[in-house]
Amino acid sequence: MIVLGIETSCDETAAALVGDDRTIYASQLHTQVQAHIPYGGVVPEIAARQHLWHLEHVITQTLEQAHMPIENVDGIAVTAGPGLIGGVIVGTMAAKALAAALNKPFLAINHLEGHALTARLDPGVEYPYLLLLVSGGHCQLVWVEQLGVYTLLGQTLDDAAGEAFDKVAQTLGLDYPGGPAIEKLARQGDPHAYPFPRPLLGRTGCDFSFSGLKTAVRQKAEQLEPLQAQQRADIAASFQEAITVCLVDRVDHALTMLGTRVKTCVLAGGVAANSVIRERLNKACQERHIMCVAPPLELCTDNAAMIAWAGIERLHAGLTSPLDFAPRPRWPLTDLMSP
Ligand code: KG4
Ligand code: ZN
Repeated sequence: MIVLGIETSCDETAAALVGDDRTIYASQLHTQVQAHIPYGGVVPEIAARQHLWHLEHVITQTLEQAHMPIENVDGIAVTAGPGLIGGVIVGTMAAKALAAALNKPFLAINHLEGHALTARLDPGVEYPYLLLLVSGGHCQLVWVEQLGVYTLLGQTLDDAAGEAFDKVAQTLGLDYPGGPAIEKLARQGDPHAYPFPRPLLGRTGCDFSFSGLKTAVRQKAEQLEPLQAQQRADIAASFQEAITVCLVDRVDHALTMLGTRVKTCVLAGGVAANSVIRERLNKACQERHIMCVAPPLELCTDNAAMIAWAGIERLHAGLTSPLDFAPRPRWPLTDLMSP
C-alpha cells in the first residue's frame, strides 16, 4: 500500500510517497522561508499564494523522484487542519481533486497527528507512548494510546515553544525561523551567563508557559543595548538552557504521572530538531530506563512524509474521509476519530 501525502498548512509546500512497509519512496519540499523573512514571520496571504503556485510542481517532482505513476497510489492524504486556512484549503482542494479524478480514497489528516505518528516510521515504536509535541504553533504532552486515541496531559498556557524561539530570535536580530538560528548562535555562548526564569518549574501537572521567559529575555537585551556579539550568544545559550530545563521538567512530571505504563517517550515537531533539547530529554528518559525516540531532523519540521504515514495508518484502519470534509483552521488532537 502506498499513500501520497500533501502538506501546505504553514510555510512549506510538501509532497511525499510512503509505503506501508515504512519506505519513504519520495519526499519533496519547497520552503517559503525567503518570502517571509522580510516580515519576520509567516504572512498567511503570501503563504497561501505560494502554495497555489508551487504545489502542482512539488507533487509532480515527488512522483518523478519515485518513478511512480500516480495510478499506483492507494490513497491521497492531506493536512486538512489545523493551520493557516488559506494554505490548508489549497492542499485539501488539490488532494480532493486527485482522489476524485483517480477514484482513490481521500484521507483528511490532522497536522498534529502527522507529527504525533512520525516516530512510527521507525518500526521499533509501538503504541502506547508519551508524546512531547513541540512546534511553532503547539506545545503539548499527549498520551498516545493507539491511532486516534489521544489524551492531553498538558499544554502551553501562552506561547508555544517554537514561538518563543522565534520571538527571542527576533529580539536578537536573527532571521525567521528562529529555532535553528538560536541553536547555532547558542553554540558560542555560555548557557549559565543569564539566569532567566524557568516558568512552572517543579509545579504539579504538565502545562507549559513561556511568555515570562520571552519577556525576561527581551528586557535583558534592552538593558544591555547595544548588544556585543558575545552577549548575544550568551543570551541565546541562556534562553535555550531555560527552555530545555522547562521541557525536561514537564516530561519528567508526565512520566511520574503515567508510572510504569510508559515504556517509550516520543519527541515531535520542529523544536524537536534542536540537538540540545534532544540530548537532554534522551538523558532524562535513560535515567528512568525509558526509550526516547526522536525522528530524524527532516521529519521533525513540517514535511509530507508524516502526513502520508498518518494516511497509511488511517487507510489500514478503514478510516477514510468524505470528499466534502471541510478544512479546519483549529482542530485539537483530542477531537480525532479512533478505529
Ligand atoms: O513543526 P514545525 O516545522 O511547524 C509547525 O507546525 O509549527 O515547527 C516550526 C518551529 C519554528 O518555531 C522553528 O523556530 C522551530 O520549530 N524550530 C526549532 C529548531 N528548528 C525548528 N526550534 C529550536 N531549535 C531548532 N533547531
Ligand atoms: Zn508542524
